[in-house]
Amino acid sequence: MSYRDELDTPAWIVREEVLQENLKQMTEYAAANGINLRPHFKTHKTAEVARMQLDQGAVGITCAKLGEVEALVEQGIESDFFIANQIVGPLKTARLVALLDKANVRVATDSFEVAAGLNAAMEEAGKTLDIVIEVNTGQARAGILVDEVVPLARRIQAELPQLRVVGVMTHEGHAGAADDAAQLQQLADDAGEKIVRVAGMLRDAGFDISTVSVGSTPAAFVTTKTEGITEMRPGTYVFQDNTIFRFGWHTPENCALRILATVTSRPAPDRAILDTGSKSLTMDPSKWKPGYGYIVEYPDAVIENLSEEHGWVRLPEAMQGMEIGEKVQIIPNHVCPTVNLTDELHLVRDDEVVETWPVIARGKIR
Ligand SMILES: Cc1ncc(COP(=O)(O)O)c(C=O)c1O
Repeated sequence: MSYRDELDTPAWIVREEVLQENLKQMTEYAAANGINLRPHFKTHKTAEVARMQLDQGAVGITCAKLGEVEALVEQGIESDFFIANQIVGPLKTARLVALLDKANVRVATDSFEVAAGLNAAMEEAGKTLDIVIEVNTGQARAGILVDEVVPLARRIQAELPQLRVVGVMTHEGHAGAADDAAQLQQLADDAGEKIVRVAGMLRDAGFDISTVSVGSTPAAFVTTKTEGITEMRPGTYVFQDNTIFRFGWHTPENCALRILATVTSRPAPDRAILDTGSKSLTMDPSKWKPGYGYIVEYPDAVIENLSEEHGWVRLPEAMQGMEIGEKVQIIPNHVCPTVNLTDELHLVRDDEVVETWPVIARGKIR
């Protein structure tokens, strides 16, 4: 039976062939360029995709939260993990200590305060921890500036004996927000240059830096061209989303995940209502196309507003279709938070559902 008939909506479908192609492309790119691939788990949050990534040669998994690592470990995936985020407070450092008995975990830090908390927990547990300093290469989220890195590393080395500074990382997500491909190139090159330079500064100061890590799907094939980068952490690439079309590198066909929706109302000739609101699609805007998602069957229709359970679609004049009961597929603007809104992903092959995967890290935001 076709998945369109089998699945009630909203339903999150993953097109197997496209997923495999996306995984293969990144695996081959990393291998061809001698870069370790440590994909970010936050996009798919499923054990099945994590296993595929590791089977294809990923050196480990990147997570944003302890809860994501815990979910993977519970599934028996005792990989090498990097939490590319700050772990703050004794409730969290205690969980980190517990995880270290089961898996290799390294974490990011961008301050002495965070590092001191980690050190105290490690001291109490009689453990040591590898840490990676988070650097702001332009995004200006977390992360310290290039010139602040060596002083922080020196202070950690001098005062926090349970920690070992083994690398630097950046998330060049700002490059993905560029207006066009030329600007993306410039921002990604700049981020690459900064992260490699700071690794060199640390080495000159006597640190043994083995990890120089970057991560962003839109910039994945650009930043990593800078000589000296050792690791990439793309997340979105497995499914892709609306963000990626606008640089002209991808089309809707490269998007593996789509949300199947049903037209539930046609209250006016130029308006259709879908059963996907902000609780399915999220309120993330798109820089490329107005609206809250791309309707594959009706690319000119605009999802111009969302309430919780209603997607308000504006139809171009004289557009036929979108009748009540009809099912359509939506490519979300930002796929990662939409996955966090569903319990399961349905794997589709040749128009049929062949597997259903639980989103094991759904809601694991702590
Ligand atoms: C720290 C970090 N690394 C890597 C990534 C992966 O970026 P993308 O989803 O664009 O591949 C993200 C995304 O939010 C991130 O926050």
